[in-house]
Amino acid sequence: MSFSVLSVVHMNQISIKYKKPLLGEIMSPPDKSISHRAVIISSLSEGKSRIRNFLHAEDPERTLKAFRQMDIDIDEKGKELVITGKGLAGLKKPENIIDCGNSGTTMRLLSGVLAGQPFPAALTGDSSLKNRPMQRIITPLTEMGAVITSEHGGCPPLSISGGKLKPINYRSPVASAQVKSAILLAGLYCDGATSVTEPSKSRDHTEKMLKAGGADISIKSLEISIKGRANLKPLDIDIPGDFSSAAFFIVAGVLVPDSKIFIRNTGINPTRTGLMDILKKMGADIRLENKRESSGEPVADIYIKHSPLTGIEIDGDMVIKAIDEFPVLCVAASKAQGITKITGAKELRVKESDRIALMAKELRKMGVEIQELEDGLVIEGRETLKGAVIQSHGDHRIAMAMLVAGLTAGGETTVEDTGCINTSFPGFKEMLYKLTGR
Ligand code: S3P
Repeated sequence: MSFSVLSVVHMNQISIKYKKPLLGEIMSPPDKSISHRAVIISSLSEGKSRIRNFLHAEDPERTLKAFRQMDIDIDEKGKELVITGKGLAGLKKPENIIDCGNSGTTMRLLSGVLAGQPFPAALTGDSSLKNRPMQRIITPLTEMGAVITSEHGGCPPLSISGGKLKPINYRSPVASAQVKSAILLAGLYCDGATSVTEPSKSRDHTEKMLKAGGADISIKSLEISIKGRANLKPLDIDIPGDFSSAAFFIVAGVLVPDSKIFIRNTGINPTRTGLMDILKKMGADIRLENKRESSGEPVADIYIKHSPLTGIEIDGDMVIKAIDEFPVLCVAASKAQGITKITGAKELRVKESDRIALMAKELRKMGVEIQELEDGLVIEGRETLKGAVIQSHGDHRIAMAMLVAGLTAGGETTVEDTGCINTSFPGFKEMLYKLTGR
C-alpha cells in the first residue's frame, strides 16, 4: 500500500492521492436538524433563548436569516446564540421573498409556521430546491386552512397566505420529519389538537424540543398530537454533534486499513443512527462510550476501528433511520465482501439530488458493479476501487461520500464542485487533513 496523505485543492475541488490510516480524535460539527429547530422554536417562544453549539453552515444560516427577516432579534455572543422570541404572534411580514437556498428543512418547516401567520409570504430556493416536492406539505397545510401556490407540480417557489387554521388528524403517506414538523408547527396556531401519523418513525427532534418548550404534545407510537396556542418558554440548550456528519468519518475509519478514530459528543438519537446498526450488521467494529443525555437528546463518544465488511440486505425501516447516510452507505457497500441490496429507499430520489441514480453513476466510475432499482440499489463489493474524476452534482453528501470512496481507492480521486459541502459541514476537509496527519 502506498502511504502519505491527502492532496488538494483547487477552489472548488478536492483530490485525494495517497492513502494512510485515519488516526485521532475529532468532534463532529453541531447537528443540522436540531440547529434549524432551535432557531424556529426559540423565535416562537416568549423571551430569551440561549443556544450553544449552533451549526454555522449554509443551511441553518438560511433559517436564521429567515427569522431575522421576520423581525426576530438574534445575537451571537461568543459561541452562544441569544434569540429573543416574541411568542406565536410576534413575527412580522418579511419585506422580501425568503430564500431557503439548498435547505429543504428551512422551506418545509417554515411553511408550517407561515401557515399560521396573518400575513402572506413567499419562499424560494436554489435550483436543487426548486425541483423538490412540496405537495407533501401543501396538502396538509391547505387542509388546515392555508392558501399555498406553487410552481409546476407542487415545486417551489411557494406563496403562503396563512391565517385562521383548523386542527386536522393527518395520516402522512411518507415517513418524513419535515412533513411531520410542518404540521406540528402549524398545529401551534390551531384551537384544539392536531395530530400526524407517519408510516414509520422519522427523526423526532421537533416534538422533543416543542415538549421542552412546554407545548402540550403526546406521542403514541407513530401518532404525535399537539394542542395549539401554547405559550412556549425559552430554550437553554447545547446542540450535540451531528451523527449524519460523523457518518463520513465512521465509514472512512471502518474502510481504511489500520484506522482508529474517536468522535466525541455525537448525537445518537435512535431515529438517526441506522447507519451504525447497519454497519455493525456488516461486521464493523464501532463502540459507543460515555453515553449521556444533553438537552433532552442522547449523546455519546464513538470509537471506530478498521474492520472488514460483508454485504447484507437493507430494507425500508432501516433506511429511514439512515436516510441521509445513504450515499456513504453505498460507499461502504462498494468495499464489502459480497452483495448489498438496499430497497424501500425511494425517498432518496427526491433529496438534494436523485441520490440513487447519482451514487450509481459516480461509483461506477470507480469500477463498482451496481444495479439501479426503482427504490434502491444492488451493489457488488470490490476489494479495490479505482481512482476517478467524480462530480458532486452540487449535493453535499455525495461530495463527502465520494471523498471517502477516494480514501479507499487506488490512484488519485478528484471530486469536483465541492463548495456544496458548506451547506452542512464547513471544515470537513480540515478534519480529513487532521485525521490523515497532514
Ligand atoms: C430532515 C429530515 C429528512 C432529512 C433531511 C433533514 C429534518 O428529510 O433527509 O436532511 O431536519 O427534518 P425528510 O423529512 O424529507 O425525510
